[in-house]
Amino acid sequence: MTFKVRIESSGREFSVQDKETVLAAALRQGITLAYSCRNGACGTCKARIVSGRVDYGSYEDKALSEAEKSAGAVLLCQAVPLTDLVVQAKEINAAKDIPIRIMPCRVMQLQKLAHDVMQVSLKLAEGQRLQFLAGQYIDILLSGNLRRSFSLATAPSTDELLQLHIRHVPDGHFTEQVFSKMKERDLLRFQGPLGTFFLREESDSPAILVAGGTGFAPMKSILEHAFAQGFQRPLHLYWGARARRDLYLDELPRSWAQKYPNFRYTPVLSETRPEDQWTGRQGWVHAALIADYPDLSRHEVYASGPPPMIDALKQAVKVHGLKEDRLYYDSFEFAHIAAKV
Ligand code: FES
Repeated sequence: MTFKVRIESSGREFSVQDKETVLAAALRQGITLAYSCRNGACGTCKARIVSGRVDYGSYEDKALSEAEKSAGAVLLCQAVPLTDLVVQAKEINAAKDIPIRIMPCRVMQLQKLAHDVMQVSLKLAEGQRLQFLAGQYIDILLSGNLRRSFSLATAPSTDELLQLHIRHVPDGHFTEQVFSKMKERDLLRFQGPLGTFFLREESDSPAILVAGGTGFAPMKSILEHAFAQGFQRPLHLYWGARARRDLYLDELPRSWAQKYPNFRYTPVLSETRPEDQWTGRQGWVHAALIADYPDLSRHEVYASGPPPMIDALKQAVKVHGLKEDRLYYDSFEFAHIAAKV
């Protein structure tokens, strides 16, 4: 049985096949709605049902509360229509024109950036390039229909080599392979670009970027893109990590801060070690941000990191004036958890 879905604001319509989710159907037909984890965990794909009924699927309470559900909210990455639908959902127009492709690539370089972070540089076949928006991710395709998601750490304009920052997860199927077996010249396949986490270039609001751990990767892509394009809007990067050794490219944002007057960098450590001799900010990265910006009503916030960081940040910025539609986040560990590394 096929149902029809209409997006109220734009009037665009698409069809949903039997047992297909609304998000999957939209993406299949070239309509990009906001999403991140595709796993019912992050809430990015939340929309409102104007009319019709759905099977809500399975999801985490923090992504969709009972109160929100009673008010008509739904997670489109999980919802399967039971009737024709009209929904209020956010269309992402910048990403929709970029085709999502499956491409082969070769591992050109493996470089350990920290004790548990590997930079993997990938090269496409001769004459091929991946078009993407700074901040998006790709899925590495593995045997047995498995996939692992990683943000691109390079700017779109320097796409000759695609770089990923891969954190070692003990017993993680793929990351064990990266750290122990993968060799330069190995062949991989990936699908991409994916995701709706990217810098909104039409805005000139001051942007605060919050990275946790390897959440630095998409921020690096976004910032290198912003610098290359000569964007003048204020950009402030907070990078939260446990100890100094986890700020695996600390010198890079420090050098940007010297070079670009509109850029500021604040590293924040939560578990400093004596050998760190750290004199910088300590504690949780969201708390540092709020201490510096108690009024966020004029800002945009971009965040990428593990779920606890994203959750804490979402709560904190809400009570400090950030408009709901100005928080963009890549809850990569969610997406990347289903497929856990
Ligand atoms: Fe749907 Fe994350 S909850 S994309």
